Amino acid sequence: MIDEKYKYLQSLLICPNCSKSLVLDDERFICNQCQTIYPIKDDIPLLLTCEESWHKTTKEIKTFYEETPYPNYDNCDKKQTLINKSKKSFFTKKLDEEIDYNAKILDIGCGTGQLVNFLSIANRLVVGIDISFNSLKLAKNFAKKNHLYGSHFIQSNLFLPIFKEKSFDYVIANGVLHHTYNPYYAFQICSKKVKRGGFLIIGLYHKYGRVVHNLIKKFYSDDELKIRNYDKILSEKIQTFQRYDAWYKDQYKNPKESTHTIREIINWFTKNNFTFIRSLPSAALFDDFDESERLFERQYQVSKLEIFLNEILMLITNNYEGGFFIGIGQKN
Ligand SMILES: C[S@@+](CC[C@H](N)C(=O)[O-])C[C@H]1O[C@@H](n2cnc3c(N)ncnc32)[C@H](O)[C@@H]1O
Ligand SMILES: [Zn+2]
Repeated sequence: MIDEKYKYLQSLLICPNCSKSLVLDDERFICNQCQTIYPIKDDIPLLLTCEESWHKTTKEIKTFYEETPYPNYDNCDKKQTLINKSKKSFFTKKLDEEIDYNAKILDIGCGTGQLVNFLSIANRLVVGIDISFNSLKLAKNFAKKNHLYGSHFIQSNLFLPIFKEKSFDYVIANGVLHHTYNPYYAFQICSKKVKRGGFLIIGLYHKYGRVVHNLIKKFYSDDELKIRNYDKILSEKIQTFQRYDAWYKDQYKNPKESTHTIREIINWFTKNNFTFIRSLPSAALFDDFDESERLFERQYQVSKLEIFLNEILMLITNNYEGGFFIGIGQKN
């Protein structure tokens, strides 16, 4: 059973310690070069190196998300509820509509695996990696209960890569890089896993879109009730304690977060041999992305001045859901 499931994945895996190939031996992975043994626990390969050598922020973040897996599930979540919830998000719905069924997808920092599980329903091969084992356990349990055989989960620290370069058609890192000690370095690592012609999708907090959120956080840091009044997700959208707690802690108690601009990530994409395709919200002024447009089709060229003005406007236009934005680039 394990052989079948990991056969294809195995051919893509490398040792996080020495970057040589890994082999599957008796339900564990072994590196023939440095002889490191990587166990598989609850069907999740643990491809981690010794924590001692990690950056202090990475250790802190791991502890944080082990205690509070994000975004967690509602007790009654089933395959159909996952589909319904995922399709309510314009972005997730578009991803599902536009990504080919044969595509190989890597979700870096997949958390509790909602996106991996959702995209795997259409028989795609989707791999989620995360540093938090407790998050992956929830992700894997959901996949098992709902017979989602296309989704795979591996514990890994993104700074110590476990996949060969150019292995995936789509690489996604949604809400992850801004919780690392060096978001641009993390971006570079993610970018290397994308095949030529493939896409890299990055979700980050926006420098101006996050201002209102950060003010609320600063003034009401210990007043959860006040925060609840301002935060629409807490007050309107979340019902169960696990998901409430996960959102509250992720947004207001996170040990590390940074903010970024569209101009900054266009630069990241360009420097790493990607063509910038678009951002959500759009980089252009007063240009709402609508149903008829395609996510992976290049948006018209937007001038630097227009992007700058639009970014300033995000102070008021992009503070819903914590001032988040997404950038998409295609590898040349
Ligand atoms: C805010 S959550 C986002 C989860 C998911 N991508 C989503 O959109 O719901 C950030 C995730 O990144 C993971 N993460 C942070 N640093 C990481 C690292 N160095 N390697 C792997 N995962 C990491 C955390 O464990 C956490 O699950
Ligand atoms: Zn090795």
